[in-house]
Amino acid sequence: MNTAEPLVLGIESSCDETGVGIVRGTELLTNTVSSSMEQHVRFGGVIPEIASRAHLEAFVPTVQQALAEAGVTLGELDAIAVTSGPGLAGALMVGVAAAKALAVATGTPLYAVNHLVAHVGVGLLDGDGALPEHLGALLVSGGHTEILAVGDITGDVRLLGATIDDAAGEAYDKVARLLGLAYPGGPAIDRAARDGDPEAFRFPRGLTAGKYMGSAQHPGSHRYDLSFSGLKTAVARVVEAFEAAGQPVPVADVAASFQESVVDVISRKTVLACTEHGITTLLMGGGVAANSRLRELVTQRCAQHGIRVVVPPLSLCTDNGAMVAALGARLVSRGVAPTGIGFTADPGLPVTTVSVPVPA
Ligand code: KG4
Ligand code: ZN
Repeated sequence: MNTAEPLVLGIESSCDETGVGIVRGTELLTNTVSSSMEQHVRFGGVIPEIASRAHLEAFVPTVQQALAEAGVTLGELDAIAVTSGPGLAGALMVGVAAAKALAVATGTPLYAVNHLVAHVGVGLLDGDGALPEHLGALLVSGGHTEILAVGDITGDVRLLGATIDDAAGEAYDKVARLLGLAYPGGPAIDRAARDGDPEAFRFPRGLTAGKYMGSAQHPGSHRYDLSFSGLKTAVARVVEAFEAAGQPVPVADVAASFQESVVDVISRKTVLACTEHGITTLLMGGGVAANSRLRELVTQRCAQHGIRVVVPPLSLCTDNGAMVAALGARLVSRGVAPTGIGFTADPGLPVTTVSVPVPA
């Protein structure tokens, strides 16, 4: 064990997972997660108030479990890192307040970090902890859909493209509901699609028309951006037409055709953003990274352009505290100043703010 490496506890509460991770430098000691997913099932989506309440109840037991699993005490920590945004305001506030309380009680430096950059931080936990050069990230979950360029994880992260409406996972969840499939919709559609024909219906590919794409020299207004709301409406129209005709909805075919539209656009835009920004390694994160067809098509299309795709284990793809701790440890190692406690949760924290600077 290298005791010179910083021992950091990371706290994540931006959506429905209460995550507490502990790392020593790039070594993962524990990744403890408590999810409130089951409480949202009957609503077909995450209800922010329920998520916030669940964080409150889960926080102390999750911290205790994490400390026990890692075999460390609060007094030994070199730093605490917490997701301060982006995410659900109330959910973020619980983690931020808890992190401040722990920091004050133990006199430990506190870092307020960006949730999206923390997803990329998972890559630090691999091997020697060196992130590949020319790194990009594709983040796809129920809350976000972003394509990032990561020059330096502690300070140079750029947003290349993002959804302009629904997140990818949100689109899966909404379409699953239209098809009468259970929440969360992603795994349900992924399964149903295996028995369906992806070409049965030609659903729209959002933001791929020439006016949005432009060219490499003259990029359109949404060259790397994504949109899923038109697709969702198109699926609704098809379902309605079958119902109006008194015919059974061909669930497997609709699921497969919907999925093909989602993964086609995501993979095309990602490859375009990567090739035009010299990205040669792509890290995938977020719950939708579990999708078999998305992994397949992204990997295949990236390979055609010499881009290596890295997909961490699912427990590190979905929201967790280990990724927050890993980013925190890197900030400590780089000598970045801690934020202290004079910050608030910021649901719209831009990706360019890797860690919140000390308030003036
Ligand atoms: O990262 P995550 O666990 O939580 C947050 O959104 O914060 O992602 C959950 C999302 C849900 O929308 C779920 O439907 C989607 O990931 N998802 C999938 C798959 N597994 C989970 N989407 C497509 N295919 C899957 N296999
Ligand atoms: Zn996330």
